[in-house]
Amino acid sequence: MYNWSVKQSSARRPPAAIFVLFGATGDLAKRMVLPAFFTLAQRGLLPADWRLIGSGRGEIAHEHFVAHVHQSLQEFGPEPDAATWTGFSERLRFAGGDFTGGGHGALLAAVDEARADLGANAQLIHYLAIPPQAFGPITVSIGDHGLNAGARAVYEKPFGTSQAAFRALDKVVHGVFDESQVYRIDHFLGKEATQDLHVLRFANGLFSGMWDRHSVRAVQIDCPETLGIADRADFYDHTGAFLDMVVTHLFQVAAEVAMEPPVSLEPGHLQAARESIMRKFRPLDPADVVLGQYDGYRKVAGVSPQSRTETYVAAKLWVDSARWRGVPFLLRTGKRMHQTHQSVSLLLSPPAGPFRGLPVDGNVVRFALDGTGEIDLRMMAKVPGVGLELGPATAKVPLTSIGGAAPLPPYARLLHDVVNGDRSLVTRPDGLAHVWKVAQPVLDLDRKPLAYAPGSWGPVAAKRLAAPDGWLLGQ
Ligand code: BG6
Repeated sequence: MYNWSVKQSSARRPPAAIFVLFGATGDLAKRMVLPAFFTLAQRGLLPADWRLIGSGRGEIAHEHFVAHVHQSLQEFGPEPDAATWTGFSERLRFAGGDFTGGGHGALLAAVDEARADLGANAQLIHYLAIPPQAFGPITVSIGDHGLNAGARAVYEKPFGTSQAAFRALDKVVHGVFDESQVYRIDHFLGKEATQDLHVLRFANGLFSGMWDRHSVRAVQIDCPETLGIADRADFYDHTGAFLDMVVTHLFQVAAEVAMEPPVSLEPGHLQAARESIMRKFRPLDPADVVLGQYDGYRKVAGVSPQSRTETYVAAKLWVDSARWRGVPFLLRTGKRMHQTHQSVSLLLSPPAGPFRGLPVDGNVVRFALDGTGEIDLRMMAKVPGVGLELGPATAKVPLTSIGGAAPLPPYARLLHDVVNGDRSLVTRPDGLAHVWKVAQPVLDLDRKPLAYAPGSWGPVAAKRLAAPDGWLLGQ
């Protein structure tokens, strides 16, 4: 194995840490954040000693919080094995009360107690697993109570809800933290296959030469989901697919595809390469955007019966760099669609030469971001036999088939980075400022989303965006 990473060659565990988890009894913590902590504990990747203080408005007894964490792990994994659980559960605390509304006493006392146990130098890490509207007030309170000094703060996406809201939040956050303390995460960047978007390209001659408009005719970043909005109606109805997935995950993935070669694969250089290409994203043209809402969405409990929130978006993004000028980046995502997939496909231009009219899906490099990730190469080859017939052939590389593979789920990977102070997958305010500018024409739209049937590929109007090739996954 060729070990490129500095951090993985270090066997030393990071220093003791105190995690404060805001929104500890919420949906995101239950599904993603608490399982990520436990995964790191099982793999021996947490600091040698640590405390996790759950913060939430309710007055929950400590034992109930511990039971809640156990229940979350049973429901969303990983299975809490007794050996890990014992040490893990002993390090959990709950500090209830309205932190922004005068009820901060319990949290401050819990932090003091953890410092008494672990030493005053224990690294304080705030994790804000709360809706974007609450980021500002919680940040201000962290500063007011002196919990910002030397701390790290992890912000979930979306960081802002519009260009103006982003600017206001950025100001608040930088009034309390230095940029070096801020970890804005986007879990799509923590997916193994997303990271292969830059590794495959910069480490292989086969791909480095074809990664541009001369060889690629279109890029499709397609993330349909069969899932509905389950028990997240309140969050979702205020957020919608555009903020939930496009401005956040899909734009970050587009930047991973489009970035120029970084100076090196060091964290700062990688981050800089991803962020600077975002400045070349052209503001979206509303004519190139289709918004949809699945039939029945407005009947979901917690959704407004008049809701105009979109549950589906298809958009054509242009990247005005010398490398990508003229190549459409097609983005699509939606709830209650026909299939669940997360895939990034580079559709290659037909080569000049004797074969004309080859199928467009015959020359494709595809990255499956779901699960543990896979890279597929689809190529045209001679069908063995006496004739000269061509047929599509696929070579599949599941990432777990690579020797030594020990994949971490994306949230665990990002949390590991935070604990170790690695910022390579952290988003930066300069890139985000531009992303919000790109998104604003769609946010300004007062357009009723088009209806689509659950189980379909979304509104047919989106077919036009992907013409002449069509969407590779369907419709
Ligand atoms: C989340 C969105 O960030 O990403 C969800 O809020 C979406 O709506 C999810 O379903 C998809 O990511 P994953 O990792 O669950 O495949």
